[in-house]
Amino acid sequence: MPATVVVGTQWGDEGKGKLTDLLAKDMRLVVRYQGGHNAGHTIVVDGESFALQLIPSGVLYSHTVPVIGNGVVVDPAVLLAECDMLESRGVDTSRLVVSGNAHLIMPYHYEIDRATERALGKNKLGTTKRGIGPAYADKAARIGLRVQDLLDEKIFLEKLDVAVREKNAVLAKVYNRLALDRDEIADLYLHQLAPRISPMIGDTVSLVHEALEAGENLMLEGAQATFLDLDHGTYPFVTSSNPTAGGACVGTGIGPRDISRVVGISKAYVTRVGSGPFPTEVDGELADLLVDRGREYGTNTGRRRRPGWMDVVMLRQAARLNSLSEIALTKLDVLSELETVKVCVGYRVDGERLSRVPYHQSVQHRVEPIYEELPGWQDDLSGATTLEDLPKAARNYVECIESHAGVPVSYVGVGPGREQYVRFSQ
Ligand code: GDP
Ligand code: IMO
Ligand code: MG
Repeated sequence: MPATVVVGTQWGDEGKGKLTDLLAKDMRLVVRYQGGHNAGHTIVVDGESFALQLIPSGVLYSHTVPVIGNGVVVDPAVLLAECDMLESRGVDTSRLVVSGNAHLIMPYHYEIDRATERALGKNKLGTTKRGIGPAYADKAARIGLRVQDLLDEKIFLEKLDVAVREKNAVLAKVYNRLALDRDEIADLYLHQLAPRISPMIGDTVSLVHEALEAGENLMLEGAQATFLDLDHGTYPFVTSSNPTAGGACVGTGIGPRDISRVVGISKAYVTRVGSGPFPTEVDGELADLLVDRGREYGTNTGRRRRPGWMDVVMLRQAARLNSLSEIALTKLDVLSELETVKVCVGYRVDGERLSRVPYHQSVQHRVEPIYEELPGWQDDLSGATTLEDLPKAARNYVECIESHAGVPVSYVGVGPGREQYVRFSQ
């Protein structure tokens, strides 16, 4: 069976973890293809909540093989802590395989992430400060250390020497920060972390292809989202990898013809953490209500997420960029009890109407949303299991999104729990 991709269609936190977990019940391999522990994917099973950063959201089933693909950046200490957390809660992580080609996040990446954010002042990106951007920058500059380097002390030390020399010069001379100790880093990575990580390291490209050849189901789990994509997002307010579906090919080592299904995850409204343009952002009482009801605080960083109305201009763009075959619409329950609900169907800028996301950054910052306003619904949706359980106004809202996006909505989320969803079209 070809692969299914799960991709965020907004600015992250759409509920990818929940959907990945839901779909993983029919999958053999669940592969993370990009990002690192800037991600926070929450899964709620029988009232118990699991917040995952690096380990794929399929890990909770005993029949899946969780894989960290080559496109991911890995802090081995974070990975081991996540394994320990899961093991302590009865989840077996022994099947986890980590690509030897994935790049390592090193202590100096955190330092540089923090220092560059500080230096940017009011123009800061609002990164997660996890060293993600600097780690991908080293990958692109071809001076990164990879997971496989943990297996070869000589190569690891050679590369580390070059990197530490350069980073310490930058930290001291550009950012006025203290130098990092090369021997401490070497000891931590080679003697404390490598012995536990080594058995997990593997050739994940072969693993993925063997599964494809055996006709097994594979899922490729994206982190972040379409509008945080380095190429297609609201640059520079983006992450440093490619969450869009194309990134799933590069980040796992398969070609586009091996992907048969692309599930775009979208909240029934929109949130964003960190800086950057957000045309449908709301404030005041409505913002507080959405944040409270939707518990819109970062899974890892605890930061309050900025909320706004649904934006189908972005969703249409996401459908194009990812070849979406379907949309899973999450958190519809959060919108209950509002008198009316709004959907942004176009933008106005300089007296003109736009039906597409403008490519020009300065225009993105000043577009004004054009809304369609629909009747709300008062019912609590959290117990809904079938289409008939959804009030007519809620169904209309979903159908409105579906028709503007031009892609069917297959699932509607009505609560954080694994079972809290309704099958919509299909
Ligand atoms: P991800 O990063 O895309 O995996 O999303 P997060 O886990 O960071 O944020 C989504 C939050 O919404 C989590 O706390 C989920 O448990 C929760 N969630 C997911 N789907 C639904 C839903 O349909 N309704 C409600 N109320 N919460 C949901
Ligand atoms: P999941 O997978 C929401 C945002 C940060 C910042 C920008 C760059 O849980 O959806 P980075 O640390 O990646 O260099 O930060 O991207 N960001 C996320 N926002 N959800 C995420 O992941 C995010 N990962 C990064 O807030 O604006
Ligand atoms: Mg998240």
